Amino acid sequence: MSEIRTIGILTSGGDAPGMNAAVRAVTKSAISEGWKVFGIYRGWEGLIHGEIKEFSTEDVSNIIQRGGTILKTARSDEFRTPEGRAKAADTIRKFGIDALVVIGGNGSLSGAQELAKEQDVTVIGLPATIDNDLYGTDFTIGYDSALNTIVECVDKIRDTATSHDRIFFVEVMGRDAGFLAQNSAIAAGAEAAIIPEDETKIDQLAAYIGRGIRKSKNSSIVIVSEKDGGAMHYAERVRKEYPQYDVRVSILGHLQRGGKPSASDRILASRMGVAAIEALKEGQRNVMIGIIQDVMLNIPISKAVKMDKPLEREFINVLNTLSI
Ligand code: F6P
Repeated sequence: MSEIRTIGILTSGGDAPGMNAAVRAVTKSAISEGWKVFGIYRGWEGLIHGEIKEFSTEDVSNIIQRGGTILKTARSDEFRTPEGRAKAADTIRKFGIDALVVIGGNGSLSGAQELAKEQDVTVIGLPATIDNDLYGTDFTIGYDSALNTIVECVDKIRDTATSHDRIFFVEVMGRDAGFLAQNSAIAAGAEAAIIPEDETKIDQLAAYIGRGIRKSKNSSIVIVSEKDGGAMHYAERVRKEYPQYDVRVSILGHLQRGGKPSASDRILASRMGVAAIEALKEGQRNVMIGIIQDVMLNIPISKAVKMDKPLEREFINVLNTLSI
């Protein structure tokens, strides 16, 4: 039998569409177990400074469709120190919180792991980041929505690229991971994607130009992952090395993180939220809820944050094949 009676929930790191759906699902399923729920504002910062409110089901009504996070989020320097984490643990004890549900990406779950290790706190992680870069889950909350936002933007850029016969370098987020770049390129019918995972170490730009895309098409779109100089870097190179091309850059930036969550993200967040409470009932500690081939599972947070999640080569091949 679980000893849990009171939980705290926080969202941390970059916001991701679907975080609210996750907060709602965790709150409702905990309350239906008869547990007390504390909403913790501004992530680790709010935990350190005791920015906490008891949640009822009313606090999470009418939020499943909203982007961002009603709990707000922050990137906390203080929490990166052992002293900061000790203060966070004091708040947890003061409010009688038996377990913490942390909704966030790699950095947030690494923080959760440290807190669990140093302060003997029970933590459950929900993977929420547009980057989709956590090991142990096929999808993270927010990734599908951001992907759809990017595709919508690239469709629009395509109109002007075609009208002017231009090459567009479109920069997308993803930090060190190329999931957003690679899969938005496939979905938007882009001519190429430049991603950090392309291990072949060939000059991706030269390969793209070498494929002679401009011989058969008058315009093209290259999606560039934000890492290593991003779109500006490649646009500058083309301007210098291939002055015959008319080049433009579009950096999509934070609009990729905003907007309503897609139906898939709402469903994923709801399933993961319910699974988080199930995991606590089973006595699980310090695990992240993941989804692999549509099956929910618990994976040690230590593994989820340390191991690399590879981007399947097949996706790269699909884009290359279809971009002739
Ligand atoms: O991790 C999510 C993410 O949006 C990354 O894709 C991006 O590199 C980073 O956060 C941007 O962070 P910030 O909002 O702090 O500028």
